Amino acid sequence: MSETNHLSLKKSLDLVLKSATEELNQIQSYEQLMVQKSRFLGKKGPLSELFKTLGRLSFEEKSLQGKEINLIKEELESLFQKKQYELEEQTLHRQLAQTYIDITRPSRSAWQGTLHPLTQTMQQMVEIFTELGFAIATGPEIEHDFYNFEALNFPPAHPAREMQDTFFINEQTLLRTHTSPVQIRTLLKHKPPLRIICPGKVYRKDADVTHSPMFHQIEGLWVDKHTSMADLKGVLQTFAKKMFGEHTRIRLRPSFFPFVEPGAEVDVSCLFCQGHGCRLCKHTGFIEILGAGMVHPHIFKAVSYPKEMRGFAFGMGVERIAMLLYGIDDIRLFFESETRFLGQFVSSLPMTLETESVLDKDVL
Ligand code: FA5
Repeated sequence: MSETNHLSLKKSLDLVLKSATEELNQIQSYEQLMVQKSRFLGKKGPLSELFKTLGRLSFEEKSLQGKEINLIKEELESLFQKKQYELEEQTLHRQLAQTYIDITRPSRSAWQGTLHPLTQTMQQMVEIFTELGFAIATGPEIEHDFYNFEALNFPPAHPAREMQDTFFINEQTLLRTHTSPVQIRTLLKHKPPLRIICPGKVYRKDADVTHSPMFHQIEGLWVDKHTSMADLKGVLQTFAKKMFGEHTRIRLRPSFFPFVEPGAEVDVSCLFCQGHGCRLCKHTGFIEILGAGMVHPHIFKAVSYPKEMRGFAFGMGVERIAMLLYGIDDIRLFFESETRFLGQFVSSLPMTLETESVLDKDVL
């Protein structure tokens, strides 16, 4: 190995080591470290350039000089590795210093779920009616045209069907548009007298701030020899007072439903203006919550009940009642699953299996 050659290589290696050490002392971040590492140890770095010059040398010189370059390469690698550990340790210390834990602070209370406001409203309604002696009946949400329309005195192509457009699974099977089909199912299964409510989901081709394509109803049916319109009014007045407060009044307006005669639409005095008139009640002082009436004689005939039977029925929208109760002006809020909305309805009712199963079980 020529002396000049060796000296020149040593000089170059000393220079590389010196400038890498100087750069390493300046480095403050991991990113800078990676840049410098690739500058000194990468394919285009000074050591790679020195390796390339070895090609011209004899076998002995090549192996000697190669060893010296490799020694410096290893030294540089260990210097860069050391710097990397240093930087990682500094970052860890910085992060630990930022996460200051104050052990004297009171602990955060555990997040507690609540019952959905509609479930709460429904349970409250069911409780009022069960106190009045009503049993609970249920029926399927996928219903036969016969129970949903025909047996309820809606003949095929009757215009009243148009008010309750829905999703048809086939010509005879549909998503029920109201809870009234449970009336027919119950009348066919049980002998009079009977007093039932049917809570459940119903479906219609409806969508705006007060109408939802899926909503809940509670149907009521009381059949006995002497039931009258006065009983219907008494039951609904009692319900309204228990649900909305003692000052609440109800109002019956004549209306048409094919399965009752006479039929009525029932309003409650507006809770927001106490009946004086405001934007929400469209300045009428009342808000509609349900349809009702005396069971039509055709229905009793169709289910072979005795002629002298009398009965009344009603069907109320649970969303409308919850909107009134909580002052909610857009029905869609119930179905958006926004926890900031739902979290406001902290339940006073116990979240027990017992209260939930009341709605799922046919207890008649
Ligand atoms: C009926 O559904 C009748 N089955 C009620 C009935 C039962 C009448 C027994 C007579 C005897 P109506 O279509 O009006 O009636 O609906 C009853 C209530 O459901 C309405 O007063 C309203 O509170 C609610 N409602 C109706 N459509 C919607 C909807 N798309 N979204 C939310 N609530 C609705």
